[in-house]
Amino acid sequence: MKSLIVTGGASGLGRSIAQCASLAGYRVGILDVDSDALEECASLIQGAIPLVASVTSVDEVSAAVVEFGQIPDIWVNNAGIVRFAPLLELSVDDWKAVIDVNLTGTFICSTIVAEAMAQRGSGSIVNITSINGISAGTNSGAYGATKSAISLLTQQMALEWGKFGLRVNALAPGLIDGGMSEPIYSDPQFRKLRTEKVPVGRLGTEEDVAEAVLFLGSEKASYITGHELVVDGGIINSIIANLPRPSSVDSVGLDGE
Ligand SMILES: NC(=O)c1ccc[n+]([C@@H]2O[C@H](COP(=O)([O-])OP(=O)(O)OC[C@H]3O[C@@H](n4cnc5c(N)ncnc54)[C@H](O)[C@@H]3O)[C@@H](O)[C@H]2O)c1
Repeated sequence: MKSLIVTGGASGLGRSIAQCASLAGYRVGILDVDSDALEECASLIQGAIPLVASVTSVDEVSAAVVEFGQIPDIWVNNAGIVRFAPLLELSVDDWKAVIDVNLTGTFICSTIVAEAMAQRGSGSIVNITSINGISAGTNSGAYGATKSAISLLTQQMALEWGKFGLRVNALAPGLIDGGMSEPIYSDPQFRKLRTEKVPVGRLGTEEDVAEAVLFLGSEKASYITGHELVVDGGIINSIIANLPRPSSVDSVGLDGE
């Protein structure tokens, strides 16, 4: 039986990744710092094993892997936080907190599991980034910088660990209807404004992300490593298309529309 551990798995995208993996026949470990949410989540997913740990703690992550009882085939670095503020108002504490969980947490988990995977000679790591790591976002603080850094770290890990039989990839979700974006999309006005901007005409679902994570992590993607897969319905490519252009310049210009 193949196995998978997802960090930050007690809610949002992580919970959907755990659910999809369980339905696909994986033995699933859900690692999260929020023990209450974790218990509830694990009780809803058939056979899921709750692992209470912070991704920022080497000791806690190591103990969680021991508790799971095996080195998983796939490890998903999904735990992430955001602290919105203009850079000139962002506290150093908030800056450090986001870097600690998102970037350092990814490093800590990956190195712990990669060492064990390398001894076995196989394994796959998927790092959840964001389109905000590709393009700056309003008041994103340290968030986008951590996601961009995780993207490069993914390449670094793929480069160094390929010889051990490991693959490491990143997945950048776009406008996802769930998780930390739930407060945005529960507002009908912002939901409509944002949905209209997505080339495929809808927001992404947590399952859109989860299914792509399972693909990247699985043997179906056995020749893909060091790659960042963007799962965003085309929004990151649509910036120029959203800029107005006079019809005097172009017969399909936007000013008369
Ligand atoms: N939801 C979106 O629209 C969206 C878009 C792009 C990228 N992402 C990324 O997807 C990932 C999941 O986000 P989400 O939207 O599901 O958010 P979420 O807030 O619903 O879930 C994050 C989970 O991480 C856990 N967590 C926080 N700190 C932790 C720590 N130190 N150790 C272990 N677990 C910890 C939380 O308890 C929570 O269960 C994040 O990396 C986020 O940056 C989300």
